[in-house]
Amino acid sequence: MTTKTKPEDLRSFRWFGPDTMRGFSHRSRMLPGKPVIAIINTWSEINPCHAHLRERAEAVKRGVWQAGGFPVEIPAFSITETYMKPSPMLYRNLLAMDTEESLRSLPIDGAVLMGGCDKTTPGLLMGAISMNLPAIFLPAGPMLRGNWNGQPLGSGTDLWKYWTERCAGTVSDEDWNAIEGGIARSPGFCMTMGTAATMTALTEAMGMTLPGASSIPATDSNHVRLAMDSGRRIVEMVWEDSRPQEILTLPAFRNAITVDMAIGGSTNAIIHLVALARRCGLDLPLRLFDEIAPRVPVLANIRPNGEYLMEDFYYAGGLRALMAEIRDLLHLDCRTVNGKTMAENLEGARIVNPDVIRHREAPLSETGGTAILYGSLAPDGAVIKTAAADRRFWRHTGPAVVFHDYPDLEARINGEDLQVDENSILVLQHAGPLGGPGMPEWGMLPIPKKLLQRGVRDMVRISDARMSGTAYGTCVLHVSPESYVGGPLALVRDGDAITLDIADRRLDLLVPEEELTGRRAQWKRPIPKEERGYLALYRERVTQAHLGCDFDFLSHDTPLGEPEIF
Ligand code: FES
Repeated sequence: MTTKTKPEDLRSFRWFGPDTMRGFSHRSRMLPGKPVIAIINTWSEINPCHAHLRERAEAVKRGVWQAGGFPVEIPAFSITETYMKPSPMLYRNLLAMDTEESLRSLPIDGAVLMGGCDKTTPGLLMGAISMNLPAIFLPAGPMLRGNWNGQPLGSGTDLWKYWTERCAGTVSDEDWNAIEGGIARSPGFCMTMGTAATMTALTEAMGMTLPGASSIPATDSNHVRLAMDSGRRIVEMVWEDSRPQEILTLPAFRNAITVDMAIGGSTNAIIHLVALARRCGLDLPLRLFDEIAPRVPVLANIRPNGEYLMEDFYYAGGLRALMAEIRDLLHLDCRTVNGKTMAENLEGARIVNPDVIRHREAPLSETGGTAILYGSLAPDGAVIKTAAADRRFWRHTGPAVVFHDYPDLEARINGEDLQVDENSILVLQHAGPLGGPGMPEWGMLPIPKKLLQRGVRDMVRISDARMSGTAYGTCVLHVSPESYVGGPLALVRDGDAITLDIADRRLDLLVPEEELTGRRAQWKRPIPKEERGYLALYRERVTQAHLGCDFDFLSHDTPLGEPEIF
């Protein structure tokens, strides 16, 4: 450990050090005399993914004490993916603000960030990046495999799958209830390669966790060791003055994109990575994802793209093994929170089960699983998870069937009178950052029941919404600008021809410009339903999907500032 910080340089010394009336007041209540380590904990009883984080915080504290620090556990806004409506994404920025302001306003020298359920990882990191105090991320870990009838069940992915079959009438009530009872067996985040597993993996790939951290199941005893190790290490990081913005460089983000492709990660990662990079003052244009994707094979054979689950991924060698297999595609000199380079952290890593983590010679797919589309329907970009899309639709032109918003979709999708066939393109409007609001995961529009009953299982679907990382299908997402602000998606009408061309990276509305000009003149911006509190702030200041959906006033250029201590 290289000590750069002297005790009197500690940030907390400003509170506890001075021989002033205020210093007296601070010391009279608490006398750390050591680096103060915040354990920012997104635990709550309403978040089953984080049910174990209260216990883990105790393990972190033991590590902090062992290394000569002073731990303080601080609760943070507990975004729970399952229950938070209308969309947990609406609240990612609130957690980021909560984290940043706790770190700013309190006598903190370094932080362990505890999260994992989808939005908690980017939310915690965004706040910590902006405050730029030494920080280490402790992933909550995936839950154990689900089980039904002797078959493994994966969060989300198998819910979509069996719900579709139930709608088609092929799953009995008894089986449906048994699936419900077997799909979530333990604490931890969704154990498919959904947004949670993706974002924690990318956090490790960027060097913000201890090596190997992201794959350890929540209930594995190694997860307790990881918590203690993270507690010990953060104290050293404070003395070394190692800060997030030194670790999160452009090459570190490129590593994250490369790993995102190799794991077949969630499309949500694109929005979060853009937002994280912008907090660091870095620009991650969507085209960069497309530039990296063709060079990277998909190696993780994990649902929804593959067969296995995160517990299998851990036993197969975990993220270090996967990264070691693509080491030639990574920036290995990036520094990480343990003070070592990525190259050093990958030494000795190897694939134990090559069916779960594929070798380069036998990838799940030759190229990365995500494509960025541009065109007259998406001037600022749209995203499609190619790995989850039926090859028949990679080049497809069809007539639009338009749903004005989600209630309209719910009301009409299964109607016998809906004019739709398997070549139609389902379009959902008003589901973006402002339209949702909060860009809900409505992007995997349901297949109309009458088509399901005829055996149809995939169609082209287009929206300005997001899609759960556990979902699949030919779903074009994140269309930007969104329909709510008058993007071209707002102008689509039933019967309009739309072309999706994944090879050419195009998404086009085939309607003459003069017709569109007329429709644009008639278009009226919707009147928002809510106009108070956080939602009012959100509506006023959130950016579009291609800019990461962060608040404009939280960009890197905003002065940080330290509180005055009077
Ligand atoms: Fe928490 Fe899926 S519900 S990660």
